[in-house]
Amino acid sequence: MAVKDLDWANIGFTYIKTDYRYVSNYKNGSWDEGAIVTDATIVMSEDAGVLHYAQECFEGLKAYRTEDNRIVCFRPDLNAKRMVDSANRLEMPPFPEDRFLKAVEEVVRANEDWVPPYGSGATLYIRPVMFATGNVIGVNPADEYQFRIFVTPVGPYFKGGAKPISIKVSDYDRAAPHGTGNIKAGLNYAMSLYPIVKAHEEGFAENLYLDAGSRTYIEETGGANVILVDNDGNLVIPKSYTDSILPSITRRSIAYVAEHVLGLKVTERPVKLSEIPDFAEMGLCGTAAVISPVGKITDHGNVIEIKSGMDEMGPVTKKLYDTLTGIQMGHIEGPEGWVHEIP
Ligand code: PLP
Ligand code: COI
Repeated sequence: MAVKDLDWANIGFTYIKTDYRYVSNYKNGSWDEGAIVTDATIVMSEDAGVLHYAQECFEGLKAYRTEDNRIVCFRPDLNAKRMVDSANRLEMPPFPEDRFLKAVEEVVRANEDWVPPYGSGATLYIRPVMFATGNVIGVNPADEYQFRIFVTPVGPYFKGGAKPISIKVSDYDRAAPHGTGNIKAGLNYAMSLYPIVKAHEEGFAENLYLDAGSRTYIEETGGANVILVDNDGNLVIPKSYTDSILPSITRRSIAYVAEHVLGLKVTERPVKLSEIPDFAEMGLCGTAAVISPVGKITDHGNVIEIKSGMDEMGPVTKKLYDTLTGIQMGHIEGPEGWVHEIP
C-alpha cells in the first residue's frame, strides 16, 4: 500500500473517483448490514423519490493524515447526528449514528492510499449521502432508501486557498423562514446554483444570503457559515431568528476554541448587513471552506471593504485558523473526543 502519486498541492475541490465506497439499503422497514463496494454508479427506478420530490440529504467531513502517519477525522459524531436531524425533517429513516461512524471508519481505511500526505495542503473529503430509491408518484415519502459514503481527495474550496475573497449580497434567498435551511438537504443547494453561476460570472467567490423574511440580517453563504471579529478582537456569530442557518460543525468548534482556548468573548446574535462596516474581520467557515477570510462584500454597487483588507487574513482569524487546523491535523491537542482516529 502506498499513498497515491497525485499533484497534491494543485488539486482543486473536484470529484476524483477513489476505489471503494460504503453502501447500505433500506427496505421493508430496516437498513441492511451494508458493505464496502467498488461500483461508483447507482441504478434505480425512474420513479425513485429522489428524482421527483428531492428526498435527499448529505454530509461533508474530512480525513487528515497526521505527521506520525495516523489517519484522523474531525468530530464525525456531529455529522452523524446532523444527518439524523436532516433525515427526520425529510421523513427519511435515519441511518443509526453508531453505524455512520463505523461506515466512515471502514470507507476511509479502505481508501487509505487516497488520504493526502501530511502538510500537502490536500485532505480526503468524505461525502455521506442518503436518498429515496423507492417509487413515489403522489407527494409522499418513499419506502426504500440508499445510504452511501464515498470519499475524494480535495484541495482548497476557494481558489487562492486562505487568501481573502470577494463576495456579493445575493438577490435571491437561500432558505425560507422556518424552512429547511437548518438541515443539509440537496434542495437547499439546487436553488443556489443559478445565483452562484451569476456570482462567479461577475467575479465573486460566493453569495451572502440575507434572512428571507426581512432581507436585513446576515444568514450565511451558499456553502459556509459566517464569523465576524469586532474591534476589540472578540467573535460575533450571526444567529438566525427564523432558524434557517445550517448548524456548521466548524463554526461550533471555532466558537469553542475562541472562548476556551483563545480566551475571546463569543456572542451569537442576529447581525444586520448594515453593521458589517463596524467589524474588523470576517470569515466563512465550513468543512470545505475551513476558514476563508472575506475582504470585500458588494451589495448592489455599494462596496463594503472589511477592515482586514484583501491582502491577508486578519490577526484573530489567523489565530482561529491556526488553532482549528492544528487540532484537525493532530498537532495541537484538542478537546476530548474531537479527533477521531481511523482504526
Ligand atoms: N453552511 C452551508 C450552507 C454548508 O453547506 C456548509 C457545509 O457543510 C456549512 C455551512 C458548514 O458546515 P460544516 O462546518 O458542518 O461543514
Ligand atoms: C461542506 O463544507 O462539507 C459542504 O458540504 C459545503 C459544500 C459547498 C461543498
